[in-house]
Amino acid sequence: MHGEQMIGANVETIEIDEAKLGRLIPLFYARVREDEALGPVFNDAIGDWPGHLETLKAFWSSVMLTSGRYKGNPMAAHLRKKARLSPALFERWLALWAEVCAEAMPPAAAAALQAKAARIAESLQLGLFFRLDPDRSPGRTAPA
Ligand code: HEM
Repeated sequence: MHGEQMIGANVETIEIDEAKLGRLIPLFYARVREDEALGPVFNDAIGDWPGHLETLKAFWSSVMLTSGRYKGNPMAAHLRKKARLSPALFERWLALWAEVCAEAMPPAAAAALQAKAARIAESLQLGLFFRLDPDRSPGRTAPA
């Protein structure tokens, strides 16, 4: 028996591979493009869909399989689109991601992909929407 199996290896190694990601990503973005809220943002921003899908496959391959295939800066990419983004839109993105992952991936893999997306969405949103209010920042003492 392989050592990995003995320790119950992580779901990434067992159930997520390039081939599955290669099916999941186009399926997800096909649904995104049809979505009433998300569709217009993506369709206005993206001219080269095959290129975008390749970038996203590389991204998820790096994130889930630590392949190092993605070389990019998602925060910078989303900051460029800040005017079109909102927390409600991120919520919709995550709901659709959960839906498509559940349809297209084995359950444990779907759960891992959802959890990872939620963490990334959180950090993107912190960068996009969170601003320190100097009057409320910790360490600033209230006027006596
Ligand atoms: C409201 C939700 C979201 C919207 C509307 C959105 C929209 C977009 C758009 C329009 C681009 C193309 C930017 C450009 O080429 O200038 C993009 C790129 C990208 N997005 Fe999102 N996004 C969302 C959430 C997410 C989340 C949650 C993730 C990851 C879990 C993600 C990962 C990426 C990546 C990796 C790129 C490629 C960046 C690059 O070009 O290297 N996005 N997104």
